[in-house]
Amino acid sequence: MSARPVPRAEAVGRAPAKLILSGEHSVVYGHPAIALAVRRETTVRLERRPGPTALGSAPFADPRVLPALLTVLPEDGLCINIQSDVPVGRGMGSSAALAVATVRAWAALEGRSLDFALTHAQGFAIERAFHGQPSGVDHAVSALGGAICYRKGAAGPDWQALRCPDLPLVILDSGSAGDTAALVAGVASRRPGIDPVLERMGALTARLAQLLAAPAPALRQVGRLLDENHKLLRDIGVSTPRLDELVALARSAGAVGAKLAGAGGGGVVLALCPDPGPVLAAAAQAEIPAFSVHVAPPEPR
Ligand code: MEV
Repeated sequence: MSARPVPRAEAVGRAPAKLILSGEHSVVYGHPAIALAVRRETTVRLERRPGPTALGSAPFADPRVLPALLTVLPEDGLCINIQSDVPVGRGMGSSAALAVATVRAWAALEGRSLDFALTHAQGFAIERAFHGQPSGVDHAVSALGGAICYRKGAAGPDWQALRCPDLPLVILDSGSAGDTAALVAGVASRRPGIDPVLERMGALTARLAQLLAAPAPALRQVGRLLDENHKLLRDIGVSTPRLDELVALARSAGAVGAKLAGAGGGGVVLALCPDPGPVLAAAAQAEIPAFSVHVAPPEPR
């Protein structure tokens, strides 16, 4: 006999941020991407209350938020409170973490259990409201935690958990936001001319997945692939002079590889730093916000 759902008056959902280690943009066209959930978190607290569903507290004023969340939540009867330490518009999956945290909070409020398939499907509705036609990698890794290799399959998401160590990553913030939907549309407009570059990204990502599966991946080899990935992202037109500068700064301060992470056009650079100290110091010296990040553990399944 299955237990009847017990609705609650108030419930909380949480979800982590993400970084794409390799394969952003090419993932939209069926190539693999490697994504990491990282220890920055969004929390959504839903409370039942009479009247139209509305935002209570939120750390950002983005007019897309309420309509996006209403693709999943009911039009009436809820107050939505959001807390987050995920940088917004920086390629770290702020909308994906919001989507997954909301789906989780809603299931908890209704007293329902939730599996990955439903989380991903409902998360997609929210992500589409923000970004048009995303591949689904961002909210997949936010829902699954850990590290994954993801493909946008015709029949739904196709993913494998990667046994990836907690890589020593430093994030450098360009200080400006990228517009994911516009960047994805820009890449689409440059096809089919750039298709060979997207294919090279896919092949590079497959090589990186093999490297990461080794018991102790060689960081220098991983770094070389990150550098190569950045050049390919530049070739498809999604880097900026500022992002190229941050990559160069991290490399000259001792990072073994660096690339933009996410849609580009702004946002962050991730740098692989066996010794993060000198890279953090060089960033501080240049007044660039920078911090270390750690991979969030896989969700229990
Ligand atoms: C954005 O984090 C990643 C992109 O590949 C878009 C997507 O996968 O939907 C640029």
